[in-house]
Amino acid sequence: MRWNSRAYDSSFGYVSAKGAPLVDLLDPQPGERVLDLGCGTGVLTAEITSRGAQVLGIDGSPVMIEKALAQFPGIDFIIGDGHDFTVAQAYDAVFSNAALHWMSRDPDAVIENVREALVPGGRFVAEMGGSGNCAELTAAMSTAWRDYGLPEPELPWYFPTPAEYAARLERNGFVVRILEYFDRPTPLDECPGGAADWVRMFAANVLAGLPKDLVEPLLRRVNELAAPALRRETGWMADYVRLRFAAVRR
Ligand SMILES: C[S@@+](CC[C@H](N)C(=O)[O-])C[C@H]1O[C@@H](n2cnc3c(N)ncnc32)[C@H](O)[C@@H]1O
Repeated sequence: MRWNSRAYDSSFGYVSAKGAPLVDLLDPQPGERVLDLGCGTGVLTAEITSRGAQVLGIDGSPVMIEKALAQFPGIDFIIGDGHDFTVAQAYDAVFSNAALHWMSRDPDAVIENVREALVPGGRFVAEMGGSGNCAELTAAMSTAWRDYGLPEPELPWYFPTPAEYAARLERNGFVVRILEYFDRPTPLDECPGGAADWVRMFAANVLAGLPKDLVEPLLRRVNELAAPALRRETGWMADYVRLRFAAVRR
């Protein structure tokens, strides 16, 4: 999908900011080789680098990689697809924040590639959307689409249950050490347009297929429908549910 890397960092900087505890779970050591899969604009890649690890950021979006290279010129970033990447030399750890749920075409292929990129005993530490993630937001989208006579929106994400993802990890050669599944309501502080701004950023491809004059009324309808659950006195809140895990390559 086409990302807006400037709006991603300015209005949705919470995505990487909320990833800081995941870097602690990774606990990168000086000299370790770490791969950051779905690195986006590289904010967490840089954080891992600052702990002394040697990090490669991979992302499927040329726009995200361009911004990452521009803001962190000393770090290696390449364009690559999580479903289909290989590395010349195995890594000590693969890290991934808020990206695996976008790699929805074949989650097993992604896990297999991660395994192949790791040394035996290497760590796979990641956080992604879990089952029920953004349920209010996506329900508002479905209803708004229906209200406007449109077919159900084809949402691009894979939000597995903890049991389902743990089984995939185990089937694909990992031992699961830690697996957490939790609600993480997230203030959309930099999104004055509320749920509509969230849809514009994260469902840009779904909007791209629609007649232009329909987009604004449709997004207004999304806001009306989502407001009772997600708009507070203090502002809009996204109903995130996260799956966070640390697994080790057998
Ligand atoms: C929400 S952003 C998260 C970026 C970054 N990890 C962070 O914490 O800010 C999701 C990222 O996953 C990337 N992505 C989506 N599908 C991908 C794929 N199949 N292969 C590699 N990267 C992908 C997107 O381009 C995007 O940069």
